[in-house]
Amino acid sequence: MKKGDRIIRYRAAERINHWIVAICFMLAALSGLGFLFPSFNWLMNVLGTPQLARILHPFIGVTMFAAFLLMFFRYWHHNLVNKDDLLWARNIHKIALNEEVGDTGRYNFGQKCVFWAAIISLILLLLSGVVIWRPWFAGAFNIPMIRAALLVHSLAAVGLIVVIMVHIYAALWVKGTLTAMVEGWVTSAWAEKHHPRWYREQRNRSTQQEKRP
Ligand code: HEM
Repeated sequence: MKKGDRIIRYRAAERINHWIVAICFMLAALSGLGFLFPSFNWLMNVLGTPQLARILHPFIGVTMFAAFLLMFFRYWHHNLVNKDDLLWARNIHKIALNEEVGDTGRYNFGQKCVFWAAIISLILLLLSGVVIWRPWFAGAFNIPMIRAALLVHSLAAVGLIVVIMVHIYAALWVKGTLTAMVEGWVTSAWAEKHHPRWYREQRNRSTQQEKRP
């Protein structure tokens, strides 16, 4: 593997999966903010009309959850925290200055936090969303439960929006990252700088493949 080589990071199915989650997130987040704040009511029109937004928002949310679940089962084992992550977290001030710290694998500690925060908030959004889903399920719950679910739903949504803003900022800020999710590849220089352990694993794998008769 030479310095300028490209390394496959995501296959087409993985990228389609991710962008389905991202599009559902945008639609659910914008229409949801439209429900939450009177000054954002106009955002409901992102789904056509406010009436359509009320109907479609929960279905889009369930689609996002199901699509993210596929990502969860694909990537959970790459997102387990190890001792290099703690070193990364302790040196966050260096990371902010574009230095790299520790022997990072496929994902760094920041990405791992986004991953776990996303699954936790999506589970909370799904459970609380079912309780407040009119006309299908809300009738089965009492008023205090619906109030509590509304609070959990709003807090989890705002939390996830903040987390995804950080995720998008990092994806745009670290040069060479966006091609991973758009075209599926990264340069070997990018991998060696930001994910050295993952780079070595990929390099060893390609050397073994080259040796095979
Ligand atoms: C416009 C919005 C978004 C952009 C531009 C974006 C961009 C990216 C990029 C470039 C990567 C590849 C990073 C890498 O491999 O190092 C990525 C990975 C990922 N994205 Fe997004 N993303 C967006 C929305 C979302 C949303 C809404 C979610 C979840 C709710 C999400 C969850 C993930 C996850 C789980 C990964 C894999 C990283 C990991 O498992 O730790 N993304 N994204």
